[in-house]
Amino acid sequence: MSENAFIEYDGNKLELETMIGSENEIGVDITQLRAKTGMITLDPGYGNTGSCASDITYIDGDKGILRYRGYSIEELAEKSTFMECAFLILKGHLPNHSELAEFDQGISEQAGLHYSMKNNFDGFPANAPPMAILSSMLNTLACYNTELLMTEHEGEAFELVVSKIISKVRTIAAWTYRTSQGRAYMPPNPNLSYSGNFLHMMFSQPFDEYKIIPEVEAAVDLFFVLHADHEQNCSTSTVRMVGSSRANLFSSVAAGVGALWGPLHGGANAAVIDMLENIHSNGIKLSDYVDAAKDKNNDTKLMGFGHRVYKSFDPRAKILKTHVDSVLEALKIDDPLLNIARELEEVALHDEYFVSRNLYPNVDFYSGILLKAIGIPVDMFTVMFAIGRMPGWISNWREMLSHNQRICRPRQVYTGENLRPYVSISDR
Ligand code: ACO
Repeated sequence: MSENAFIEYDGNKLELETMIGSENEIGVDITQLRAKTGMITLDPGYGNTGSCASDITYIDGDKGILRYRGYSIEELAEKSTFMECAFLILKGHLPNHSELAEFDQGISEQAGLHYSMKNNFDGFPANAPPMAILSSMLNTLACYNTELLMTEHEGEAFELVVSKIISKVRTIAAWTYRTSQGRAYMPPNPNLSYSGNFLHMMFSQPFDEYKIIPEVEAAVDLFFVLHADHEQNCSTSTVRMVGSSRANLFSSVAAGVGALWGPLHGGANAAVIDMLENIHSNGIKLSDYVDAAKDKNNDTKLMGFGHRVYKSFDPRAKILKTHVDSVLEALKIDDPLLNIARELEEVALHDEYFVSRNLYPNVDFYSGILLKAIGIPVDMFTVMFAIGRMPGWISNWREMLSHNQRICRPRQVYTGENLRPYVSISDR
């Protein structure tokens, strides 16, 4: 039973309904606030604003809990593949054998890109940022699928768009890398798994097939599982916001890539490696680096630490940390950056500044070391995140439309000039 909330202002009292979620989170419904009082709420950064009700992902940031559709991330990481997870996030239940085979095949069939898209890749300079290429090429897919630019969120045509995006994002990512290397594009191999096919398209040469190491394939798959959704983060909210104007799915996810690019969001995995390399190559003392990160007059941050929602360990970071060792061992890599990361974590976890602010390692702290070991270049790290996040973005886009959500259009409190007369240029 939910109790209502009250807002009292200037002698008037307004009763507001509350909504209680399945994990007992309470939301105060303020949709009538402005109509009834003329007031709006103010919450820059949306730290206290619930933008929707959602069935997809649950996070308890204080307890370090993450669940997709009710399944714990720990169990999914151990027992599921990325394809199973994508199905789960999109459809709400774990697939049986035939459902998974059909889903997998639908995605596998869509791995190729239209031959003319080669010209689009060729048009980018070799040093073009991969996230810019990814976003452009996802929008370019709209040009090759004009008959699918509808805003329906179910049915065969929608399922086809979903397969195309989840499959082609991986091909686009791999070909982006090959563009930067000046190498010929490698066609997909339908006999490989989702993650194996990605590694093949990244690293195989025309007469030299990339040898897929099972530990590496499993680690890439795990990386995608861990990134598959994370409720209303910056990029997912962007996808929902763009989609709320009834923009098509291709352009909505392309916008999500833009939001993910920033170093405060998905770009942090690359920023972590930059930070560790800087510490390593310049022989910076870890305590000095931590001191700089604590100094408010200094722009330095401990990248890969802190999170808007998690106020304890990010469960994804815990899982990745344990897998980094097995991958480095399988590849016989001894990365000094891993030791620096471990020591940095130890220093920060015992430092009053980080402890009192509940700043713990997030998913990006160890994912960079894993991707680097696999041979993914640093500027492709955030692209990897985008591949993994695609089921979450799509599922949120669909949920938003299935709730027939109004166009997103926040308000503001205006703090600029009041009405003033225009001054002609000769009098200024
Ligand atoms: N290093 C040093 N200080 C930090 C850090 C950090 N990484 N993160 C937060 N703080 C400090 C803030 O300066 C602030 O201090 P104050 O209370 O004295 O002013 C306090 O901790 C609270 O932090 P906020 O900035 O208010 O936290 P917010 O929720 O706005 O930001 C964010 C979260 C962006 C993730 C932030 O912690 C950060 O910049 N971390 C580094 C970048 C990073 O790793 N991003 C990846 C996030 S995970 C993801 O997107 C997949």
